[in-house]
Amino acid sequence: GTPHTQDTMAQTSELGKQTQLTEVAGILLQTATVGNWSQIQNFQAKPDDLLICTYPKSGTTWIQEIVDMIEQNGDVEKCQRALIQHRHPFIEWARPPQPSGVEKAKAMPSPRTLRTHLPTHLLPPSFWESNCKFLYVARNAKDTMVSYYHFQRMNQMLPDPGTWDDYFEAFINGKVGWGSWFDHVKGWWEMKDRYQILFLFYEDIKRDPKHEIQKVMQFMGKNLDETVLDIIVQETSFEKMKENPMTNRSTIPKSILDQSISPFMRKGTVGDWKNHFTVAQNEIFDEIYKKKMEGTSINFCMEL
Ligand code: A3P
Repeated sequence: GTPHTQDTMAQTSELGKQTQLTEVAGILLQTATVGNWSQIQNFQAKPDDLLICTYPKSGTTWIQEIVDMIEQNGDVEKCQRALIQHRHPFIEWARPPQPSGVEKAKAMPSPRTLRTHLPTHLLPPSFWESNCKFLYVARNAKDTMVSYYHFQRMNQMLPDPGTWDDYFEAFINGKVGWGSWFDHVKGWWEMKDRYQILFLFYEDIKRDPKHEIQKVMQFMGKNLDETVLDIIVQETSFEKMKENPMTNRSTIPKSILDQSISPFMRKGTVGDWKNHFTVAQNEIFDEIYKKKMEGTSINFCMEL
């Protein structure tokens, strides 16, 4: 059937020092998001919207910059017009009294590129009804966990992650913002043949950026020259984006993102999990992965 939402507000997360996550239909979300839930659910998508969808820390900023560079035909200056987090309204974003993500999206001229971290069952239903385009980026779970752990250490809007061992438990049980990685990736993967979804992998973009960028370009219905593609590859490299004040979040105050704890553009590599997982944790994780992802045709290389 059609994905639907349940309006069930439950208890607030016990994880960490702050209580800024609240549960909706089994998924922990930022409390301000839940406070704005009916506006989010009633959001009106349009057929010419492009929605960038990711589980947190899977390369959202990267694909946003790629999409924008394609939209702007490789014009670097045009991509400098605004901070990356302001170029594509974040549907579930809420921090009153500032305009919400929904309000920003409404104010945006079409064709719009929007973004979300919501799992399929919590997406505003009009997205499915509008038959717009979706661009999903998945990243292998272990690196995503590591990246998310460091992000929660430095992001004051999210709960303190606790120790790495605490976080490992929370992550595998889906007790982190936007819920379980497994359910998120599986949910979107299962939708991919029913809707216009381009499903990409962080690791593929890393390995062969030009090839993946070309796929995005075709999906967006654009046709850019080789030379322009080469510029986009260069400009969206980790090194460039780490130095770029429009993409590295350096203008966000330290009271919100403390980049002295961990930079927003942290490592941008594949396989950093090997520096974090113990042998035992890796075995536990592989078991859980097998169980949770059984029956899906999705093929992640977890050995990366
Ligand atoms: P790490 O913490 O592993 O470095 P998101 O944008 O969804 O929050 O994802 C952030 C992750 O993507 C971080 O991972 C960040 O470094 C990485 N990232 C951002 N830009 C990138 C780029 N151009 N190339 C590779 N990785 C990038």
